[in-house]
Amino acid sequence: MTLTIKEKIEQLRDIIRYHDRRYYLENNPEITDFAYDQLVQELQNLEKTHPYLITADSPTQRVGGEPLIQFSTINHKIPMLSIDNTYSDKELREFDQRIKRMAGIDMHRDIEYVVELKIDGVAITLWYEKGLFVHGATRGDGFKGDDVTANLRTVRQIPLKLEPPDRRQKIPSVLEVRGEIYLTNNEFQRLNEDREEAGEPQFANPRNAAAGTLKLLDPRITAKRRLSIFPYAIGYFEELELATHKDCLKLLQGFGLPVNPHTRLCKNIDEVIQHCNTWDKRRSELDYMIDGMVVKVNSLALRDQLGATSKAPRWAISYKYQPEQATTKLEEIEMQVGKTGTITPVANLTPVLLAGTTVSRATLHNFDEIRRKDIRAGDYVVVQKAGEIIPQVVSVLKEKRDGTESVFCEPEICPECKSTVRKDGVYLRCHNPLCLSQAKRRIQYFASRQAMDIEGFGPALVEQLVDKGFLKDYADIYYLTFDDLVNLERMGEKSSSNVMHAIEESKNRDFDRLICALGISNVGFHTAEVLANHFDSLDTLATATQEELEEIYEIGPVVAKSIVDFFRNEHTRDIIEKLKAARVNTRKLARQTSTNNPKVAGRSFVITGTLQKYSRNEAEALIRKSGGRIISSVSKKTDYLVVGDDPGSKLDKARELNVHILDEEAFENMIQNSKE
Ligand code: IVH
Repeated sequence: MTLTIKEKIEQLRDIIRYHDRRYYLENNPEITDFAYDQLVQELQNLEKTHPYLITADSPTQRVGGEPLIQFSTINHKIPMLSIDNTYSDKELREFDQRIKRMAGIDMHRDIEYVVELKIDGVAITLWYEKGLFVHGATRGDGFKGDDVTANLRTVRQIPLKLEPPDRRQKIPSVLEVRGEIYLTNNEFQRLNEDREEAGEPQFANPRNAAAGTLKLLDPRITAKRRLSIFPYAIGYFEELELATHKDCLKLLQGFGLPVNPHTRLCKNIDEVIQHCNTWDKRRSELDYMIDGMVVKVNSLALRDQLGATSKAPRWAISYKYQPEQATTKLEEIEMQVGKTGTITPVANLTPVLLAGTTVSRATLHNFDEIRRKDIRAGDYVVVQKAGEIIPQVVSVLKEKRDGTESVFCEPEICPECKSTVRKDGVYLRCHNPLCLSQAKRRIQYFASRQAMDIEGFGPALVEQLVDKGFLKDYADIYYLTFDDLVNLERMGEKSSSNVMHAIEESKNRDFDRLICALGISNVGFHTAEVLANHFDSLDTLATATQEELEEIYEIGPVVAKSIVDFFRNEHTRDIIEKLKAARVNTRKLARQTSTNNPKVAGRSFVITGTLQKYSRNEAEALIRKSGGRIISSVSKKTDYLVVGDDPGSKLDKARELNVHILDEEAFENMIQNSKE
C-alpha cells in the first residue's frame, strides 16, 4: 500500500509524537537522538515541498515566525488565584478543621487530600481546543496575563496535540491546563555559565531565569533554554466527567503532560503532615527548586461547597518551607576582577554547613547591596540558599558586633593593577588593558575547555606564569619554553612536557574556538560559532564593519559594537600578530574525515536511483569510509535507504517497512556531519 504524501506526513508526525512522549514524559527513549533527528528532518523536507500541508500541531512548528514586538493580553476564563500560606504542622491541622467546620463534616472523619510539591517557577495556563494547543498565558494579575504562546510552544514537554492513551478516552472540546514552568538546576547553571562567558549579568535563581525566559520576545532564544513544566490543575473544561483532583491529574498524565511523580494521595491530615515533613528533608535530592508543598482537597464536590475568597480558594493551602539558612562569620570581602575588568565583591566565610554542602563563599551581588545591608568584614551574617544555588548573605547580626568590624569602602582603584576604576551601570570596571588580574582571567579563559582546550593549563599555572612575568597576554602561551615551565612549583619534567605538547596541539583548533578564546565582551561560545559560520578567517572578521556584523542573524548592535571595538584596539592587533607568527590556526578548517562515526558506523544502507553529486561507487565509498555497510536489498533490518532520481521498487518496499529514507541532501548532511 503506497501512502499519499498527506498520509505519510501524518504518519511521521504520529511517530515523532510517540517518541516525544517516550523521551519527555516517560524518560525512556526508544531510539537514538540521531534517529529522532532524521525523522524530524524527513518531516521537514516533506513539509518544505508541500507547505500547504503544514499544520500548527506539527512537531516542526515548535519554533516559528519572527520575534514579537510585544505580548498581547489574554483574559482568564476562570481567575488564576493564589494560595494561602502556612508554616507549621499546627496551621495545617487548623486548615483541616476549618474545612470540616465550613462543610459541616464530623470533626472525627477524615478528609482526603492530594499533596504536591510546590514548584518554584512561574504559573501559566494552556488552552486546548479539540485537543490542539491554541494559546497559553502567564498568570499576570490573576484575571489577565501575557500571551506567551510562542514561547510555550518551544517547551518540549507541552504537547501541541493531546493524545489519549486509550481510544475510549474522548478529547474534550475545551481543556485548560494550569501548571508551573520552571528551569532545572542543571539547565539554570548551564545558562548562567553561558551568560558569564558572554559577559552578561547572571540570573540570581532558577525562578528568575524561568520568568525572564518566558518573557523573551524571540522564541528562538527561548527554545535554547529548555524550559520544563509540571501541570498541577485543570482550569476550565467542557465535556469531561471528573470527580476528584486525582482524576484530573490522571487525565493530564494520560494526555501526555508530565505530572510530578512525587504527588501523593493522603487519607487524612496526619499523612499530609508526614509527607510535607519528608519532602522538607528530601528537597535537595531534586533537580529543581521547591519552596514548599501544596495541599489540596481531593473531592471536587467538596471544593465547590467550600468555594474561594477573592484571593485564594478555601480548599487548598501551601505549606512553605523555611529557606535553608545558617549563621557564620564573614571574614573578608574580596574583590574579583573578571576577564573584561568587571569588579565584583565576594564574601569569604568561615565554612558552614548549609543545605547539605559546606559553604565558604557567598555572593554579594554588587556594591549597592553591601551599602544597603551595611555588611562589614568581621560581621556575623545569615547566609541562605532559597531559590538560589549560590548562597547569598541575607542579613547582618548587628547585635553581635564588637567594634572590630571594618566598614567597607567601594574601591576607587583596581585591587590588582591599582588603576582608577569607572562606574558602568551597577558595575565597577577596571579599564586598564594591562591589568594583571584581567590578564590572568583572560588567559585562563583562553586555555579553558570550551575555548582552546589546552590540557593542564589551569588557574594555578596561569597565576605563576603571569606573576613571574612569562605571560602578559594569551599569545605569550605559544612562546613558552620547557625551561620556563619546569622550574615552576608543582611542575616536574613530565607535566611540563605534557603541557608543551598540549600547547602545540592547540594551534590546530578550529576557528570558532579561537574566536571564543579571544574573550571579546558579549561573545561566548555560541556567538563564536555564529561568527565562524559567516567569516572564514580572523582577518575577515577583524575587518568587518558594525553594519556588516549587524546583518548577521543573532548579532545585535551591542555584540557588533563589542567586536568592532575589540579589533580596533591596538593591543589586540599585536596579540593577533603574535598568534599568527606562532602559527596558531586563524582560519576555518576543512573538517577531517574520521572513520567509524556513530552516526553512520554500524548502520546498513541501500542506495536506489541516480544521485546528482556522486556516482554509485563514490556514495558507497563514503558510507564505508564512515563505518557504514552497503547492502543490496531493503529488509526490515535496513537502517537507511538513500534515494536518487528515478528510484526503483526499493523505495516502496522501504516505505512499507518504515525504513528511514534519505534524499540526496539528507544523505549529504549525514555524511558531512559524520566528519565532524
Ligand atoms: S495550585 C488555586 N499546585 O504556587 C490554586 N500551585 O501561590 C492554584 N505552584 O502561583 C495553584 N506548584 O504557580 C498549585 N503543585 C502546585 C504548585 C503551585 C507551584 C505555584 C502556583 C501559584 C503559587 C501559589
